[in-house]
Amino acid sequence: MGEPYPKVTAHDLTRAFGRGTRAVDALGPLDLTVAPGEFVCLVGPSGCGKSTLLRIAAGLLRPSTGTLEIRTLSARPAAMIFQDYGIYDWKTVQANVRFGLDVQRVPRREADARAADWLARTGLADFAHAYPATLSGGMRQRVAIARALAVEPELLLMDEPFAALDAQLRTILQDELLEITQALRTTPLFITHSLEEAIVLGDRVLVMSARPGRIIAEHRPPFPRPRTGDVRAAPEFTALKSELWDLLRKEAVPA
Ligand SMILES: Nc1ncnc2c1ncn2[C@@H]1O[C@H](COP(=O)(O)OP(=O)(O)O)[C@@H](O)[C@H]1O
Ligand SMILES: [Mg+2]
Repeated sequence: MGEPYPKVTAHDLTRAFGRGTRAVDALGPLDLTVAPGEFVCLVGPSGCGKSTLLRIAAGLLRPSTGTLEIRTLSARPAAMIFQDYGIYDWKTVQANVRFGLDVQRVPRREADARAADWLARTGLADFAHAYPATLSGGMRQRVAIARALAVEPELLLMDEPFAALDAQLRTILQDELLEITQALRTTPLFITHSLEEAIVLGDRVLVMSARPGRIIAEHRPPFPRPRTGDVRAAPEFTALKSELWDLLRKEAVPA
């Protein structure tokens, strides 16, 4: 029943910005294969090319060399969630969540029902007619999650979606994201600079080097699915975190 092909395949992928002496090598060379349904987390120091990679995956940016291929079965392959929410302040919460459905031309009744469902699942039902500016950071990020998931994307691209939130809220939203993604058929690609976040969420955690970002380590957190935030208390969690931190620390401090 499973799809036989990888959802994402990158080969020798690189990206540079600018030309000549001013050229900046931002990413790669990088190889990546993501299986359907697999939750992959990429963690790396600031400026290592994480957003560049995600923008290439989203089709917003071209590789300089190499390839990144996304294999999807439907017309609406990917949805993105950014750290700065990426929601429309001039639309109500409900209109934001409906946005992708309207773009997809989902019939009105069905779109209403799906939007209402996602508002309920993300704790936003009472805020359907509010404008995002009146909401807290956590609620705004829930709007972004609801909007992305309402379109039932095959690929869910997330670029440090919780980076702007305080630690407690971040933990809560991580747990909610775990629950939601485990109940869905989607393939999440999640970028973060938080090791803890990557270990809680990921089937696989890929550690990136400093710019130009390459993959320097790969780990599979040994926690079965369905998983909850309780894994944070496991001894394996702490062990993996310090193992990965040893790697990341070397990359985070410029030589
Ligand atoms: N549009 C751009 N033009 C020039 N340089 C860029 C552009 N986008 C990113 N960069 C540079 O590429 C590198 C990687 O950026 P980015 O992918 O945003 O890193 P990260 O998301 O890991 O912090 C950085 O040095 C950044 O300054
Ligand atoms: Mg970034």
